[in-house]
Amino acid sequence: MNLFITLEGPDGGGKSSQAEGLAEYLRAENIEVLLTREPGGSPIGDQIRNVIMELENTDMDARTEFLLFSASRAQHIAEVIRPNLENGLTVISDRFFDSSLAYQGYGQRLPLDTLKAITNFATSGLTPDLTLLLDLPVEEGLRRREADGNWNRMDAYDIDFHRRVRRGYLNLAAETPERWVILNAEQSFAALQDEIRHAVMARLKPEPTDTDK
Ligand code: TYD
Repeated sequence: MNLFITLEGPDGGGKSSQAEGLAEYLRAENIEVLLTREPGGSPIGDQIRNVIMELENTDMDARTEFLLFSASRAQHIAEVIRPNLENGLTVISDRFFDSSLAYQGYGQRLPLDTLKAITNFATSGLTPDLTLLLDLPVEEGLRRREADGNWNRMDAYDIDFHRRVRRGYLNLAAETPERWVILNAEQSFAALQDEIRHAVMARLKPEPTDTDK
């Protein structure tokens, strides 16, 4: 069985390095993996990402931002995610549509129902099998971002914006709890990686239940 796994959460939770660690671990378990990320993930998607992330684009309307993320995602799915899932690979994406719902929906306060409808169109209904939420307090996330020099246009939004994003993620997780695993991203890299591996292996190779015996 192959899975479509996404990593989500506020900035600075270490998603990218955790995703790499997970991919490495699964490959060592002889599971074929494709690791990808949003925004971007395909050559056309990367060009759209550059427009979104450019620090000089301070006049970007929130709707434009949402539609660009969605456009990039549609391409990412068509070119990368769907073909690899169909070929039997487990696909790990560092961010996916929940980022748009959290940042543009809760953060920018665009209407969630409309965003969900557009998302459904952009993704043609593709939903992750498992979403790992790397949750941490906003101040800690932003402190880490500044420390590692990865500051981008999104990070420059005010602290209340980032608080709404975090709360948004927790609300989204509560709406479909069977898809989400919430993890504390304040713990050490190794401890968090361990929890991620366990959560993924529990889905990939579920323990036999009594009725299977
Ligand atoms: P990036 O530096 O690529 O990733 P990360 O923060 O995960 O290291 O920046 C992506 C930024 O874009 C991040 O602040 C979240 C934001 N974002 C959205 O606002 N909406 C989206 O749909 C996606 C995919 C990302």
